[in-house]
Amino acid sequence: MEKTLSIIKPDGVSRGLIGNILQRFERSGFKIVAMKMIRMNKRQAQGFYAVHKEKPFFDSLTDFMSSGPCVVMILERENAISRNREIMGATNYKEAAEGTIRKDYATDIEKNVVHGSDSPETATFEINYFFNQLEITGE
Ligand code: CMP
Repeated sequence: MEKTLSIIKPDGVSRGLIGNILQRFERSGFKIVAMKMIRMNKRQAQGFYAVHKEKPFFDSLTDFMSSGPCVVMILERENAISRNREIMGATNYKEAAEGTIRKDYATDIEKNVVHGSDSPETATFEINYFFNQLEITGE
């Protein structure tokens, strides 16, 4: 079993997409083993996305991610990282496959509704960024 970190971003929360997205994960065989709603401040968003700090979109991205509440969760199943990325679709919604979350709901390359870890190393960093051991109910 593998774990990955998923975020429903402020656009997904404000547009009332939480239930729809959670249902997609559960129907795709994921177990939600930890979950909470948080509101990051700018500094916390910068820490989360530190890997992108040299990118031209870093300032805008961290403004967006601290603009409202997010739902953060740990998803578990076999090949969780790659399966979650399939369900989300490409970062750029214009390139996302039919039936993916981003194809169905993203409005912008930045406001793309969901985030998912892209490797085992980032999954470990991202899970530990938001959750302590007490909050993780999976084995
Ligand atoms: P995410 O999967 O959370 O990883 C980094 C985020 O940066 C990405 O989703 C988008 O929200 C944002 N992003 C990536 N590329 C661009 C871009 N070219 N312009 C603006 N935002 C981007």
